[in-house]
Amino acid sequence: MSSTLFRTKKVEQSILDTEEPEHALKKSLSALDLTVFGVGVIIGTGIFVLTGTVAKDNAGPATALAFVASGIACALAALCYAEFASTVPVAGSAYTFSYASLGELPAWIIGWDLVLEFALGTAVVAVGWSGYIQSLMENAGWVMPAGLGSREGADAFGFDILAAALVLVLTGILVLGMKLSARITSLVVAIKVTVVLVVIIAGAFLIKGDNYDPFIPKEQPVEAGASLDSPLIQLMFGWAPSNFGVMGIFTAASVVFFAFIGFDVVATAAEETKNPQRDMPRGILGSLAICTTLYVLVSIVVTGMQHYSELSVDAPLADAFKATGHPWFAGFISFGAAVGLTTVCMILLLGQTRVFFAMSRDGLLPRFFSRVHPRFKTPHRPTILLGVIIAILAGFTPLTELAALVNIGTLFAFVVVAIGVIILRKSRPDLPRAFRTPWVPVIPILSVCASLWLMINLPAETWVRFAIWMAAGFLVYFLYGRTHSRLARQESGEEQPSVGGGTP
Ligand code: ALA
Repeated sequence: MSSTLFRTKKVEQSILDTEEPEHALKKSLSALDLTVFGVGVIIGTGIFVLTGTVAKDNAGPATALAFVASGIACALAALCYAEFASTVPVAGSAYTFSYASLGELPAWIIGWDLVLEFALGTAVVAVGWSGYIQSLMENAGWVMPAGLGSREGADAFGFDILAAALVLVLTGILVLGMKLSARITSLVVAIKVTVVLVVIIAGAFLIKGDNYDPFIPKEQPVEAGASLDSPLIQLMFGWAPSNFGVMGIFTAASVVFFAFIGFDVVATAAEETKNPQRDMPRGILGSLAICTTLYVLVSIVVTGMQHYSELSVDAPLADAFKATGHPWFAGFISFGAAVGLTTVCMILLLGQTRVFFAMSRDGLLPRFFSRVHPRFKTPHRPTILLGVIIAILAGFTPLTELAALVNIGTLFAFVVVAIGVIILRKSRPDLPRAFRTPWVPVIPILSVCASLWLMINLPAETWVRFAIWMAAGFLVYFLYGRTHSRLARQESGEEQPSVGGGTP
């Protein structure tokens, strides 16, 4: 039995599968498209919303250090992702990579885990977008009826209609085709980056040196005492629950990690890239470097403009300008944030449908979902199914706790990818690798350690939710995927391996 759980899909087979006409995606993306894609999805709710929350609750001006810590963990993971993405240029990201290296069960686990990352990530960002739109509407004197507005902190039953509507519109755009969405993305990314640069440059003139004192606020005990809200590490070691101090920086790092999610999505578009061997590493590392620099600068500027204890947690970048007497800048920033969050949402949704598509092509999920649209060449069935589910999720759920769940899922994926790099180097040293992770196994091992470190700095209750989701995944695999997997059917002679160009 263990041999079937760890059966691996040959890398060459993965590439052959993408050449079957009914299951093939268009190859149209360049390195620049990928970088724009990366920046488009990376800069979002993390920098626009969570910066204020963590500065106020966990790290003060040292939030910039939290971004550095999180950025280092992501850079290590990116070096591993880049090798995998340039070796296995097939839709599905960490899922495909682990199928080629670790085996079917680990691949299923990671695919299931990525569904969590992308689906909940899409919902989180849609809700954040809805908040910014409502804030803009309020400037114009229009207020949403209570039951149709944001669910954050709301007790009564309600449905965030704007968040749900956004997801449905984006679903339609994705069904129509990649090229259309990539064009919209480029325009929106330009607006978003402009807004971030405005925050940095205009804000730099409004910094007051006093606000940086103390740069790392002193550790403060949490009055409520130990609970499942506390970071797992505090419960593990029996430390008195506290905020701020040096450990506060790591708590903040595990939260602002959300701001970096997305560079891995670039890897999910490998199959649609013209020259993945050259362009994937450039796309992934380039977009990550740009974003890390911007985040550090933004957080230094914002915590210098306003004392960290006074930062807003809803729209900290815009509100810091309001607080310093520049409401015009605040309106411009809110507008740009709302526009920018649109692309983040769209690309997460795209990543989500591509993982689902890849899992269904392998038979781990019903193969009905892996037929591409005859005219648009997009995987329209999973796109529509997941779009509707995510729209419902976004309508009903508040975002803060979901963000932590998204983080733990993504970090777990990073751990698996890093281990996969080491295994594949040993099991398939012969494969051509356009990009090679330097210092293997040192970098992958450091990547595993950094990701695990951020994971244990997340709240214990996030671990509980994650465990429940993964347990559900095991059930689905053992009840469906294990017997329906294409590999299983080939092994039992029910299906012939594809030979390129043929249909199964
Ligand atoms: N990195 C993306 C964001 O911050 C997911 O919204």
